[in-house]
Amino acid sequence: MLRAEDNRFLTASGAGTGMGELLRRFWMPVLLSAELPEADGLPKKIVVMGEELLAFRDSRGVVGVIDQYCPHRGANLWLGRNEECGIRCVYHGWKFDTDGRCVDMPTSYPDLNAKDLIRIKSYPVREWGDMIWAYMGPAGEVPELPALEMALVPASHRYVSKKWQDCNWVQAMEGSIDTAHFTFAHLSFEKQENEILDIKKHFVNPIARMNVDHMRWIAEDPRPVIKINPHDAGLTIAGGRLTGGDNIYWRIAQFLMPVHAYAPSAMPGENIFGQSFVPVTDTNCWIYTYAWNPERPLTQAERDGYDHGNGVISEVDENYVPLRNKANDYLIDRKLQKTKSYTGIKGVSEQDAAVQDSQGPIADRSREHLGPTDLGILHLRPRAAAGAAPTASRASGPLRRALRRLRDAQGQGPARRHGRALRRRDRLCRAAANRGGGVKLGAQASPSFRGASKARTRNLEIPGLVLRTIPE
Ligand code: FES
Ligand SMILES: [Fe+2]
Repeated sequence: MLRAEDNRFLTASGAGTGMGELLRRFWMPVLLSAELPEADGLPKKIVVMGEELLAFRDSRGVVGVIDQYCPHRGANLWLGRNEECGIRCVYHGWKFDTDGRCVDMPTSYPDLNAKDLIRIKSYPVREWGDMIWAYMGPAGEVPELPALEMALVPASHRYVSKKWQDCNWVQAMEGSIDTAHFTFAHLSFEKQENEILDIKKHFVNPIARMNVDHMRWIAEDPRPVIKINPHDAGLTIAGGRLTGGDNIYWRIAQFLMPVHAYAPSAMPGENIFGQSFVPVTDTNCWIYTYAWNPERPLTQAERDGYDHGNGVISEVDENYVPLRNKANDYLIDRKLQKTKSYTGIKGVSEQDAAVQDSQGPIADRSREHLGPTDLGILHLRPRAAAGAAPTASRASGPLRRALRRLRDAQGQGPARRHGRALRRRDRLCRAAANRGGGVKLGAQASPSFRGASKARTRNLEIPGLVLRTIPE
């Protein structure tokens, strides 16, 4: 539970807000490269953290991200003509280059050089991992690009898309590192193997290689023990489930500051999924979705499969709006819900979107009742917000190094080595039951929101698990 003012702090991304200023210290994906496919092509209106901007690719192929409105008398530059290294306002002909310089002002006398006095808002831009990134923070404090592995591998090894979502970006990101919800949001209520396989066929793309045992363990243990490992670049969040034997099945998600998360789904050798959550306004967001394999190019079959949705990747229309979305109730099938799945909604990504959107345009965290499986969420919030704020720009060095090393992973470790964590989980669950559902976690588990920069958690080791690293 958060105080209402903390919830506002966490979820507001506009210029001048605390979180908005933090986010502006980092490079942010603002478009897919594929959305500006050609030099002098169509410009694109974009809204990023409440700012109305225009993106265009000039005659050299360089992308500019500038104010959407002409500084002369406010005409929308989206109407403009993208010509000879600049976009020309079609009202009176002022023209701007990708750096925001006014390079032509036909309404003024040339010898006055009035154009030299005019500059439009523009942000530094990079293309990285098939996405267009903008830096919207203070000039002169531009950080390094995040060394996300998906951008470091050859283009043939990755697939990149995006999806629209009708809710605040923070609750979508919380969902991405909440490994406990899989049991209900994504699975069948039948636990027999054939039913699980059937659900796998219906709800997970058949090319996904999710092991049947993994599905069963997720189905049979809705109460994963959560372990948290904070690091310079964010958080590692591990959810351990009992396997019926001596092992715990760990699903491990990564939160990477400030807006990136890796899904806890990949075993060694498998494709890895990630997402970047970018606020449009405070009540909707673009989620950049990607899959990559560090060891080999993706196959055409994999790409075709991703085009129709898989894991965190949605099946989207030409505007990147998911085909099953809030406006059509995610095409929920109530009959299927009676007979097979809890949600009755097709697609892991769409199931996620449905429950996250349903929390409201901005989830009211002052009314929630967190429990033991929400430990990752508890740690994410301060890490995402106050904990990072004072050091955002200075963090770029460690951030880069840590991002390079971290990936999602899964593994199994012996259960007996987690006895204490399991006992703690059961204690908390009993406490929750006694209190009628909600449970107040102790100070150690719940760093104070405002004091997050000082919050320290034990560096929890997960035996049997080795986070794979990328060679330097
Ligand atoms: S409003 Fe753009 S040139 Fe006049
Ligand atoms: Fe999910």
